[in-house]
Amino acid sequence: MESQTSDNASKRAMLAVSPYNQVALPKLPEGRGPIQIFDTTLRDGEQAPGIALSAEEKVRIAAALNDLGVDYIEAGFAVSSDIERKTIREIVDAGPHATVVSLARSVRKDIDAAVETGVPCIHTFIGTSPLHREYKLKMTKEEIVERAVDTVEYARSRGVDVQFSCEDATRTELDYLLEVYKAVVDAGACAINVPDTVGVIVPQGMSYLIGEIAKVIKVPISVHCHNDMGLAVANSIAAVEAGATICQATINGIGERTGNASLEEIAVNLFANYNVETIDLSKIGPVCRTVERITGFPVAYNKPISGRNAFAHESGIHVHGVMANSATYEPFLPELVGVDRHIVIGKHSGEHSVRGRLDALGIKMPEERMPELMAAIKEAAIGDKEIDDAELRAIVDHILYSSVIGDPAVILDGVAVMTGKGITSTATVNLRVKGESRSVAEVGVGPVDAAMRAIAEAVGGGYTLGEYKLAAINGLSDSLCEATVMVRNAEREGTGLVVGKAVGTDVVQTSIDAMISAINRDFARYDNQ
Ligand code: KIV
Ligand code: ZN
Repeated sequence: MESQTSDNASKRAMLAVSPYNQVALPKLPEGRGPIQIFDTTLRDGEQAPGIALSAEEKVRIAAALNDLGVDYIEAGFAVSSDIERKTIREIVDAGPHATVVSLARSVRKDIDAAVETGVPCIHTFIGTSPLHREYKLKMTKEEIVERAVDTVEYARSRGVDVQFSCEDATRTELDYLLEVYKAVVDAGACAINVPDTVGVIVPQGMSYLIGEIAKVIKVPISVHCHNDMGLAVANSIAAVEAGATICQATINGIGERTGNASLEEIAVNLFANYNVETIDLSKIGPVCRTVERITGFPVAYNKPISGRNAFAHESGIHVHGVMANSATYEPFLPELVGVDRHIVIGKHSGEHSVRGRLDALGIKMPEERMPELMAAIKEAAIGDKEIDDAELRAIVDHILYSSVIGDPAVILDGVAVMTGKGITSTATVNLRVKGESRSVAEVGVGPVDAAMRAIAEAVGGGYTLGEYKLAAINGLSDSLCEATVMVRNAEREGTGLVVGKAVGTDVVQTSIDAMISAINRDFARYDNQ
């Protein structure tokens, strides 16, 4: 008990939320039971256009959800196929702590299919709003109540718990909604769920609705919010404040259309503002990544908690602040949710961030060379490119070990290349050799070859290429590349190969820079002899 308290205290110490929350927020209603998380990633989440999970993938996600500590896992819609039933059964057979649930329409054959999988609980639903009654079901209010009651009784007779949803509850007349919920509770439903099927309610509306339901329904009230108007998490929290104790949600907020309430956002808000711990918060990051990877459904960079920018900082002011005290620009420590902070080196980075990154990587950079490094980073980070650690190392290496000390003998003033399919590549270079301007055009087997030939000819002195290597530093198409060029000067007997390196975003320009760097080193070496 004591260690639980100190664990809670150490987690609360990671928070930096607004002090006004505690002043303004109501206390959660008492006596309605613990707040529980009902995960529907594998059911509503999988219904998102673009997601189709194999049985094996569903089983892996279910294991991760169970490990996260959710109370319910809605594993699928049993009646939809044999493979769906087999998968749900596998998830049940794995023996999770979480209660495994199957969705079922208010139809007996759906209940049979769900029972066949061995789930201990069925989530059954029927549309109740005027829209659903008239256009989808073509049923009267009375027929819907009768069907709902029949399926709940039938499911209970088959030995399973039942959670009952009025689909489109938030657009259903209140008196009728209460009539349906009362009838299914009398028929044996263990919990009732209030879906905001099309994401159309606002938190105040949700608060009112759940409050009215809570006056007459004494079984646990669950809520299922869609995010069409960006309010799914706020509506879920409002529902909890008004007496709901089960939140249906999905990892990364995936689901029909714009998705469901994000499970991780609900869990963090409940902890931060109501001190209610529903799941193992520290596992959120890994589970969100697992779901992203397995579903192939990309999480928006700016998505709270699980987006890659949620704890990323690039601008100098923010990095400086975060390094002094992370709360300056973070609502809570990323460790709370098992995520890493990411200091991005890019065109907005200040010297402070770059210095911090260098220190973290154990790279020594003399203070007087920092301006050169900053200029190289700004140049390399064109087009909002981020400089990763390998690229930063390459830039530093280039500055420290490849550049010529003193004034370079050869300065490139301009270069133009023309290349394409079916034409001979041509390069024209304008350069100064010890102050003398030269301009040469050459052809080659490609733009790099043409440019190197033009440079060699313009510089004179019989330079030939000994070796040439080009590498994409992080293996992506927008990566910086590193060119290594070795040249030999036929006129300087016994001096051997001279190496030049350059790092940049453009393959041709970087190769040229490496060639010029090699030639300058050769000049420097020869002139200093
Ligand atoms: O959004 C919805 O109404 C649903 C029901 C099946 C609960 O997903
Ligand atoms: Zn839904």
